[in-house]
Amino acid sequence: MTVEGRAPGTEADGGALLDVRGLQVEFRTRDGIAHAVNGVSYTVAAGETLAVLGESGSGKSVTAQAVLGILDTPPGHVTGGEILFHGRDLLRMGAEERRRIRGTKLAMIFQDALSALNPVLSVGAQLGEMFEVHRGASRKEARDRAAELMDRVRIPAARSRVGDYPHQFSGGMRQRIMIAMALALEPDLIIADEPTTALDVTVQAQVMDLLAELRREYAMGLVLITHDLGVVADVADRIAVMYAGRIVETAPVHGLYRAPAHPYTRGLLDSIPRLDQKGRELYAIKGLPPSLTAIPPGCPFHPRCPKAQDICRTDRPPLYDVAPGRASACHFWEETVSEQGERP
Ligand SMILES: Nc1ncnc2c1ncn2[C@@H]1O[C@H](COP(=O)(O)OP(=O)(O)OP(=O)(O)O)[C@@H](O)[C@H]1O
Ligand code: SF4
Ligand SMILES: [Mg+2]
Repeated sequence: MTVEGRAPGTEADGGALLDVRGLQVEFRTRDGIAHAVNGVSYTVAAGETLAVLGESGSGKSVTAQAVLGILDTPPGHVTGGEILFHGRDLLRMGAEERRRIRGTKLAMIFQDALSALNPVLSVGAQLGEMFEVHRGASRKEARDRAAELMDRVRIPAARSRVGDYPHQFSGGMRQRIMIAMALALEPDLIIADEPTTALDVTVQAQVMDLLAELRREYAMGLVLITHDLGVVADVADRIAVMYAGRIVETAPVHGLYRAPAHPYTRGLLDSIPRLDQKGRELYAIKGLPPSLTAIPPGCPFHPRCPKAQDICRTDRPPLYDVAPGRASACHFWEETVSEQGERP
């Protein structure tokens, strides 16, 4: 992913798999206009995993919903930008074509498998339906493919469980079924929105490992939305940190962990519990994210930022290039990088 320009390893036609440019989304509500996404740009190359990170309400899901074409409209409206998928703007496509792409080339995994799955259809029937509808498979072939997929996502005794209903599976197993549904038609890109948040910590790690492994095997692009920096270190190639509907920092994972270039990212990192610093009091970023109907002038993070200066209250920082593939929307990114304190 790069903020502007081309991503590494892009497609033969010169474009990234997904290239979101200057996306803007607002919600028109009785309380005013909520500016949920304010000029977000990112690219995802084939085979790349981009983690999108940020506190609740930062616009992670709304950005994904706009890409997938499932924004709640009204009240939500895309008011600017482009969403290029294989070089074509999804926002300019007819509804039918968009639906077709969403069904086959672009898949999604949600947090809550129970509400995303149909409670009155067996999981085998739901998985099989994908092959019947999109691949013209017979009922029997579709069931066989469904069982294979359940096996691929490591559901124990998959063949004997194709006739079971969603409620008969544990939360972790249901999330595996969601992954199987997303993988069924071998899409080019999967957007996973908090795919493990509802699970126990140990199950979370298993599901995340599985997702990472399958992503590699199928060489898909993956956008992984999470508010948990802890889970993405081993899985993502790059990270985009969102705050108040903007990307405030973007970097390769390890560079970002080693030396964040934005005080908000630094705060997020410092609020992760660390085994090597047991007993240390956990840092918490002070204050709350801003109301999206009244985003502060200047740097939107300034009311909470320990480094804020006068300019931060008046001048909105652009995304400064920090290094190749790295950018930060902080006037004082250089100091932020160099003052890493005890961070190893
Ligand atoms: N259906 C809606 N109606 C009105 N406003 C909405 C709606 N959906 C989202 N918003 C607005 O967009 C903002 C961003 O929401 P979004 O769901 O993208 O947050 P998020 O970053 O995914 O947070 P979380 O980590 O809690 O999932 C919300 O705070 C809200 O102001
Ligand atoms: S621009 Fe100023 S307020 Fe914003 S993150 Fe940087 S130092 Fe903090
Ligand atoms: Mg969300």
